Amino acid sequence: MGTRGWISPFDTAMFYRNEHILGNALNKTDITREELFITTKLWNSDHGYDQTKKAFEKSLKKLQLDYVDCYLIHWPSKKYMESWKAMEEIYAAGKAKSIGVSNFTLEHLEDILAHGSVVPAVNQIEIHPYFQQNEMIDFLTKHNIAHEAWSPLGAGNKGLFEEPTLKALAEKYHKNIGQIILRWHLQRNTIVIPKSSNQKRLESNIDLWDFALEQTDMEAIAKLDKDKRTGPNPHNKFFLWFTTFLKG
Ligand SMILES: NC(=O)c1ccc[n+]([C@@H]2O[C@H](COP(=O)([O-])OP(=O)(O)OC[C@H]3O[C@@H](n4cnc5c(N)ncnc54)[C@H](OP(=O)(O)O)[C@@H]3O)[C@@H](O)[C@H]2O)c1
Repeated sequence: MGTRGWISPFDTAMFYRNEHILGNALNKTDITREELFITTKLWNSDHGYDQTKKAFEKSLKKLQLDYVDCYLIHWPSKKYMESWKAMEEIYAAGKAKSIGVSNFTLEHLEDILAHGSVVPAVNQIEIHPYFQQNEMIDFLTKHNIAHEAWSPLGAGNKGLFEEPTLKALAEKYHKNIGQIILRWHLQRNTIVIPKSSNQKRLESNIDLWDFALEQTDMEAIAKLDKDKRTGPNPHNKFFLWFTTFLKG
């Protein structure tokens, strides 16, 4: 670890077109590489063995790095198994310190576990109090695969931020609702990557270490589950197919 004593995580993706922005920004700082944890993702149009290797090299170039900390398959589009083979080689070559998946369902994970030789380090999936993914989390825990929540704040869903249960907990712990939700994730051992373009919220979203939710309060949040997604459904075969035509 570098001199600051913490690691800064960045979640990028070929599809977000933000790799070159991070690469340029990092060039202008004195932050050492060891202080960073950089994730990027293989887009759906780049699935397949050769395409994955090419796409990975493009990502590295845009990030101006010689390795990433984590490389993910963004969605389980067609040929994800061929992509996984290529990613296993990228991992073996040390160019990705870990490899994982995103938006994989139980069925896709079973496939990777049965036919791959590396167990994914992580499955990055939609998780928040309205979409708690308990069955998936149990599966991932059983297989020693980390769970990472995208849209951990429900993408800022107004209804979620007006939930009386969360409001009451915010008052009880003298924290804001975002902090209550993020703390709930952490106590479920879920990695969180909240997004904010507001400096105050960015600061409060990492100020989570001076309190802990009591078990009864964890249970109260568990009751908010509506099995309601904010984003695309990875079971939707049409979505997986048509996104292979979108360029990353
Ligand atoms: N793998 C995938 O398929 C996938 C899909 C979607 C997202 N992701 C990743 O997950 C990250 C986060 O997901 P997300 O942006 O969809 O959702 P999110 O982090 O749950 O929510 C972001 C929204 O919440 C607001 N917000 C942030 N902190 C807040 C707080 N403390 N109180 C109230 N509102 C707050 C933000 O507004 P302000 O900016 O105004 O604060 C923004 O509108 C993304 O940046 C991306 O890296 C991955």
